[in-house]
Amino acid sequence: MPIEVKRALITGITGQDGSYLAEHLLSVGYQVHGMARRVAIPETEDRFKRISHIMDRITLHSASLENYASLYRLVANQEFTECYHLAAQSFVPDSFADEFTSMETNVLGTQYLIAALRDVQPECRVYFAGSSEMFGEVRQVPQDEQTNFHPRSPYGISKVAGFHLARNFREAYDMHCSSGILFNHESPRRGSEFVTRKIASGAAKIFLGLETELVLGNLEARRDWGHAADYVAAMSLMLQQDDPDDYVVASGEDHSVRDFCEAAFSCVDLDYRDYVRSDPRFMRPAEVSRLLGDATKAREKLGWQPKYTFQDLVREMVEHDLDMWSKYRYIR
Ligand code: NAP
Ligand code: GDD
Repeated sequence: MPIEVKRALITGITGQDGSYLAEHLLSVGYQVHGMARRVAIPETEDRFKRISHIMDRITLHSASLENYASLYRLVANQEFTECYHLAAQSFVPDSFADEFTSMETNVLGTQYLIAALRDVQPECRVYFAGSSEMFGEVRQVPQDEQTNFHPRSPYGISKVAGFHLARNFREAYDMHCSSGILFNHESPRRGSEFVTRKIASGAAKIFLGLETELVLGNLEARRDWGHAADYVAAMSLMLQQDDPDDYVVASGEDHSVRDFCEAAFSCVDLDYRDYVRSDPRFMRPAEVSRLLGDATKAREKLGWQPKYTFQDLVREMVEHDLDMWSKYRYIR
């Protein structure tokens, strides 16, 4: 009997998680397809920088979450064993600035995609990228699969809606839809506006003499930070289970933004207190003060085990940015 090659579709393949997931699935023998939309930025290398090293091993398809016809055409013309729905407007402050686009992309986009799969290939297993932002104003610490949702941003609300959509496709149509409720996960591929990358690159630039200060918002917010490479492995494990289900994925350790600053600046032997200042400009209309996850179910049922510690993560991010900005210093 020939061994069937698994074919995965990743929406959001150009993003942080999409790039790590594509690498992971390639490494275990999948044929990897990605959905990407056209955006008007000048350099193609920048647009695909997270996946440039695997471009010759993946197939990209043009489609956008705002357009049902483009999604339908994509899944009607190709058969996939698994679909990882990662594409989203993922930056929380932007969901306050333009809540309409965030809702349309994250809610309708999810409904369009899973409905199209239901209509043309209901056997395809689906992963939905849920988020710890869904917990928002937490009533219980740590948070697990039983914790109530109380989202505090249009982004969080859109993820609660996507989570319920995925669950309803599972219950109403018997589809294999699973949601990961993933806590914050970072890497050197994290977008530059997210706090960990902003801190890592700020520490590197200050050390190299390219900048003199780092301006942040709320330094007391606490997050449960892990490494994206560990978290994409959990996504894949969810779709290998006989039954679909929802899982919290978290490190089980929380740290404040201040702690992250201290750890990052100490990687370059600097005291963050000499360089970091807080400005109301970066505060949010409604903040999520503390997220801490309990991933017991993922560990026990999926056998998921993260490899990176908080210190490993911070060091890898700062070292990457030191390397990147030191090249910039010489070509300036
Ligand atoms: P990311 O780096 O911001 O990537 C987002 C991806 O979505 C990009 O590939 C982006 O494509 C694509 N996208 C956005 N709008 C789109 C649209 N209208 N049509 C098609 N593609 C679109 O996010 P990430 O950190 O990898 O996160 C992946 C997913 O996990 C997201 O759904 C996020 O909300 C969720 N999540 C992330 C975390 C975390 O800590 N990272 C935690 C929990 C949940 P372009 O390149 O074209 O912009
Ligand atoms: N971005 C940013 N910039 N955040 C700051 C800053 C700053 O200058 N200063 C303080 N913060 C605080 C924010 O107020 C928030 O409490 C915390 O740092 C983390 O902010 P982000 O890194 O922007 O991430 P997030 O927690 O809002 O959202 C991320 O994690 C979610 C999972 O909980 C995103 O990846 C979401 O897509 C994801 O769902």
